[in-house]
Amino acid sequence: MDKKASLTLPDGKTLEFPVMSGTIGPEVVDIRTLYGKSGYFTYDPGFLSTASCNSTITYIDGDAGVLLYRGYPIEQLAQQCDFLEVCYLLLNGDLPDAAEKAEFVNTVIRHTMVHEQISRFFTGFRRDAHPMATMVGVVGALSAFYHDALDINSAEHRKISAFRLIAKLPTITSMAYKYSVGQPFMYPRNGLSYTANFMRMMFAVPAEDYKPNDVLVRALDRIFILHADHEQNASTSTVRLAGSSGANPYACISAGIACLWGPAHGGANEACLQMLEEIGDVSKVGEFIRKAKDKNSGVRLMGFGHRVYKNHDPRAKLMRETCHEVLDELGLANDRLFKLAIALEKIALEDDYFVSRKLYPNVDFYSGIVQRALGIPVSMFTCIFALARTVGWIAQWQEMISDREYKIGRPRQLYRGAARREVVPIGQR
Ligand code: SDX
Repeated sequence: MDKKASLTLPDGKTLEFPVMSGTIGPEVVDIRTLYGKSGYFTYDPGFLSTASCNSTITYIDGDAGVLLYRGYPIEQLAQQCDFLEVCYLLLNGDLPDAAEKAEFVNTVIRHTMVHEQISRFFTGFRRDAHPMATMVGVVGALSAFYHDALDINSAEHRKISAFRLIAKLPTITSMAYKYSVGQPFMYPRNGLSYTANFMRMMFAVPAEDYKPNDVLVRALDRIFILHADHEQNASTSTVRLAGSSGANPYACISAGIACLWGPAHGGANEACLQMLEEIGDVSKVGEFIRKAKDKNSGVRLMGFGHRVYKNHDPRAKLMRETCHEVLDELGLANDRLFKLAIALEKIALEDDYFVSRKLYPNVDFYSGIVQRALGIPVSMFTCIFALARTVGWIAQWQEMISDREYKIGRPRQLYRGAARREVVPIGQR
């Protein structure tokens, strides 16, 4: 029997709404007809209790600390797959077999180069511009180069745009870095794996050979997997909302990058490392924790807390393990900031302020330390997050466009401004 939810309005009128069930997770009350039937809107700033869509891509159980990509636990994907396999999974719904993976990889590496004129865009930016500003600009500008495949109603155009974005984000990200340090851009080398190719474009210089370190490449590849998708987070919702107007995929991904930049979202990894540098020493942790608990201080424990996870973010644990691996490989096991982060995490998790509010380390808490150990500058941390999340944004965008329920997103509001009033000529105001 179909489940229903009833709502009784102040005038005593009772309305019924269908309850919809998913495969797993909370059921939803379908309130799409509420305004038409009652003249009432729901009110949910920040969307704490709102399902904006139905999706088959990623599932999070915040209380249990579970993250599934297309049903597969993040722990298994991070240990047993590489990033391009996970890209295939997110885009197509299943893990590829060997032949499917080979074809997918071959297509991606055929699109790693950018139009030569793209490099001229960078000269318009100051060298000291934040690389995220460059990324927002250059990714959005890609639509100026691909007029041949911008019809979002064409499955073929959507597919080629997906490949172009997944393949070119590493190239553009490395260009943003090289431009910021005044080094020449490095062209992709298609004989390398996706992540080794990125590391070479980031760290190689024309003056000498560069050999990627397999342990470090594997660690960064795993970091990409951990950041690939995360349900309807702020930047994914931005991509969906931008895409709901019919905007082209490059403009939508550029909007996602802009939203991810915020310190409450993807910018937290950069903010977390800056926080650790400011604390400086384990002896200062107590003072910092006191400030983070003081609402008036404006200080937050960056890399802690999450809208959905009210238990450990499973990605944080995997990121901590990756941190150990990288620091051990580099002989940095006694890294000052890593030891400080471990101490900070321990003290916070013993403090009732954080425990009572279910504030645990999230994906950003350790990612900055491991990226710093990999030689990635702080200003590039969120660019790496954007590179990895591009596949999730694209998968969610494609799912929305193909959804028969798809329509332009247009929320309403609770209006608390002035009631109607008449303009008075300036001489009489
Ligand atoms: C990401 O949504 C996603 O899935 C995002 C993401 C993804 O993969 O896409 O997981 C990536 O963005 C991870 C989150 C990275 N951000 C940070 O680490 C920044 C620090 N954390 C926060 O500012 C905060 O925890 C949020 C933004 C992540 C979540 O904020 P909420 O859900 O709106 O929670 P809230 O601000 O209402 O906080 C609840 C309480 C408040 O105290 P009270 O009013 O109850 O007394 O907890 C406090 C907050 O003051 N609080 C913190 C805190 N986070 C929340 N206090 C100190 N330090 C913190 N980090």
